Amino acid sequence: MNLRTKLTLYVSFLLIIVIVAVSYNIFVTQKRILTQQISENRTKAFQSFVSMCNEAIKVKDDIQVNNAVKLLVSTYNPSVVYAGYINSNGVVMFSSRDEDRNMDSVLKARIKRASKEHIETYSSLTGEQICEFATPFFFNGSNVGTFVVGFSQDIMKEQIDIGISLTLSKIKIVVFVTMFFGILLSYLLGYSFGRPIKMLTNAAEQIAKGNLDVEIKVNRKDEIGKLSTTFNDMAKQIKELDSMKDSFVSSVSHELRSPLSAIDGYCDLLIECVDKNYSKEQELKGLKIIKQATVRLTNFINNILDLAKMKANKLEVKKTESDIGPLIEEIVALYQPLAEQQKKKIYSEINGEIPKISMDAERIKQVITNLVSNAMKFTKEEGSVGVKAFPNSAGYGNEYIEVWVQDDGVGIPKQQVDLVFQKFYQVKDGEFKKPKGTGLGLTIVYEMIKLHDGYVWAESDLGKGTTFKFVLPK
Ligand SMILES: Nc1ncnc2c1ncn2[C@@H]1O[C@H](COP(=O)(O)OP(=O)(O)O)[C@@H](O)[C@H]1O
Ligand SMILES: [Mg+2]
Repeated sequence: MNLRTKLTLYVSFLLIIVIVAVSYNIFVTQKRILTQQISENRTKAFQSFVSMCNEAIKVKDDIQVNNAVKLLVSTYNPSVVYAGYINSNGVVMFSSRDEDRNMDSVLKARIKRASKEHIETYSSLTGEQICEFATPFFFNGSNVGTFVVGFSQDIMKEQIDIGISLTLSKIKIVVFVTMFFGILLSYLLGYSFGRPIKMLTNAAEQIAKGNLDVEIKVNRKDEIGKLSTTFNDMAKQIKELDSMKDSFVSSVSHELRSPLSAIDGYCDLLIECVDKNYSKEQELKGLKIIKQATVRLTNFINNILDLAKMKANKLEVKKTESDIGPLIEEIVALYQPLAEQQKKKIYSEINGEIPKISMDAERIKQVITNLVSNAMKFTKEEGSVGVKAFPNSAGYGNEYIEVWVQDDGVGIPKQQVDLVFQKFYQVKDGEFKKPKGTGLGLTIVYEMIKLHDGYVWAESDLGKGTTFKFVLPK
């Protein structure tokens, strides 16, 4: 059963229960009110009749009493079946609704003297239920006569039924209108909920099938609208991750292939050297390039492994007292052959006495290598890359040492300078249309420096060059 049908059924069921309960309540209340009203009317009629006769009885004006009896019967026709008065002499004044001679004599016989007020219900000869009121009338302390009035119970029932059937027909209209609009509204409600949910389901199915180009168009501000917006955001993110994954896979293959082919090529060259007696210098150059390629590979694989560790929060540093100067010189020497090959200049600059600091030398080497490899990558021919160290940092005081990796390459657009540290982030609109790499290097740099309680940032002038700077506490 779909949502729409379910909702319609639930609402109809609920409506029926509510309507039945309310109608029953109205019915019972109406009946009680009508019965009460009719009883009150009877009492009133009887009392006004008695008070009308009051003066006439005192002056023994039987004609006026007789008139009052007739007036009562005609005024309250057909509720009053008969009325009468019997005086102290046994004279009866009587009037009846139906004017049937046989009946009259029977009814007239009911006008008897009573010593106290009473109400009695009985069935007449015609089978009509009659409620009889009898009350004695006292004058100067003595009982001078009795009033008797017979009210029809059947007429009262009829009046109640008429009143109730009137109410019922009104209830029927209300029930019909309520049910109609209730069902219509619940159907529309079901439709308005069902449609976006169906769209969401379809979209989720599309994503499950691998079609990531989905977007739900829902124009509403309630929870469903929010759910749809969240779903769209999620789909967008999945798509982004998917394209990131694709570009990551292609970058990984590239990052592996280029140093491998360098190693391959120079190995061939070295093999040739054995036959062709190349100079020691040429052999050394080839070996240096092979070494640089293996370092590049190791560094790349370390980055990937570190990313996995970072995700699991398991990146650790083993700090020992180390000298950063020789470390920088080692890296610069390592990149020298590549720089020569690419007609670039790379140099180190150790300013003053750099104190030993507590650090994980391997990790810091990885940081500087990542920064240098970027600087080399984003510098054009004839460009230069400098790695500089300072014993204290101007901004950070004497407690820190500061390292710069400076290049005069393509630079980074101002708005993206802080973004480059994000995972997989690569500047797209630089001079290099699609930069080679994985976008992981700087993320690792950032995490490593953080683990050393230091800080790293970049300063860049688009087209003029970039300097990555980091400080480490002594
Ligand atoms: N020295 C630099 N000059 C210009 N842009 C840089 C430099 N270093 C990093 N970037 C930008 O930051 C991005 C992220 O760098 P990184 O995290 O090392 O990833 P990758 O080198 O694999 O692209 C680079 O793709 C590049 O756009
Ligand atoms: Mg890099």
